[in-house]
Amino acid sequence: MSFRPPKGTDDILPPASRRWRRVLRVFDDLAERFGYDLIIYPVFDSTDIFERGVGEGTDVVKKEMYTFEDRGGRSITLRPEATASVVRAYLASGSQIAMKLAYAGPMFRYERPQAGRRRQFWQVGVEYLGEDSPAADVEVIELGYRFYEAIGLTGLEIQLNTLGDPASRYAHREALVAFLTDIQDDLSEDSRGRIATNPLRVFDSKEDRHKLSAAPMPVDYLSPESAAHYAAVKAGLDQAGVPYVENPLLVRGLDYYTRTVFEYVATRLDAAQNAVGGGGRYDQLAEVLGGRHVPAVGFSLGIDRIVLALGESEDGAPALDAFVIVADEARRELAVSLVRKLREQGLRVDMEPAARSVKAQFKAADRRAAHSAIVVGDEWEAGEVTIRDLDTGREARISCESDAIIRHIQSGGKAT
Ligand code: HAM
Repeated sequence: MSFRPPKGTDDILPPASRRWRRVLRVFDDLAERFGYDLIIYPVFDSTDIFERGVGEGTDVVKKEMYTFEDRGGRSITLRPEATASVVRAYLASGSQIAMKLAYAGPMFRYERPQAGRRRQFWQVGVEYLGEDSPAADVEVIELGYRFYEAIGLTGLEIQLNTLGDPASRYAHREALVAFLTDIQDDLSEDSRGRIATNPLRVFDSKEDRHKLSAAPMPVDYLSPESAAHYAAVKAGLDQAGVPYVENPLLVRGLDYYTRTVFEYVATRLDAAQNAVGGGGRYDQLAEVLGGRHVPAVGFSLGIDRIVLALGESEDGAPALDAFVIVADEARRELAVSLVRKLREQGLRVDMEPAARSVKAQFKAADRRAAHSAIVVGDEWEAGEVTIRDLDTGREARISCESDAIIRHIQSGGKAT
């Protein structure tokens, strides 16, 4: 019996899982501060939500979905992405008001696994539903940028483009089909097949993308309204101090985009997995799913790749503020109530659950990546504990009052 998880999936344990926890917390906190409520929705959905929403011509739908028939004969798909289901849930709610929603959870795509390309991977994301103002695009793009800033991911580039509204896209499509038809003998079979059905997807083709530098670009076919929208998004980003580069080749691999599209690229990672997040506006998606008109914009960020880009440097960071050590079993109850008090006051604290030698308890403190050890022993008679900084080995005797202990830890040992 192998204990390994299925191909392309991971068990994430400490210390790496501590990085995950921090990143997920930072995102949740930031999204809340920007006014995004939480949405929780099924991990599987009816297959046609993705076929229609994401698009039949996309790689995700054609090659990567985990689709199966359930025992009731329904075609079910494990969600390969969030946006189509979030829009479905919004339509199901019957709500007529704008909603700002945030989510986090696993997504599933049957891809060829490699570092940063997993079959089960995590996304966090936001969707701003029911709003067509460029200010919504700016807010969403800025939120992602502030998130990467807050977790300390350096070397980030934001790539920006616009696909225009349906009228602009129609004009662009005609020109693109003519261009692709001219060069079709040079194109892969896959791309040739897409000329008539979904020519924009040729931009996704790794083999053919580089042949498109002279192709008509969506940005050159914008209607006046779409051009004004794009200009306002760029002006808003400038005002917010969010840097970006325009990439006229960026079309994103999903069919639902209109107008703004963007990608967050970690320049430190290999090109194969350096897109650490992406998103855009999808004003037609709700209608494509059979609902009313709901303009919307959002992004999803790939946590597996982000954690990879952060590297292991922070895995040595303390996971506990303190580990309480019982030097004298007669004082175990005192130690237990000290742990309880410190936890109540917000510290991350733990202790061994049963009698162990002091040496074994110090080892446990190290193993658990505690910042300091608090020894409950004879000094308790004098109303004191010994506290040791496990990094420097420096020891001090301080008051056993929880407030004094917290002051000591938070001041890095300067307050006694
Ligand atoms: P996406 O570009 O397909 O967009 O995925 C977003 C991010 O998820 C990617 O940039 C990448 O970081 C991560 N990701 C995708 N596939 C994998 C994989 N196999 N392994 C690891 N990470 C992966 C969307 O999913 C859209 N729903 C984004 C959006 C939201 N657009 C509007 N709202």
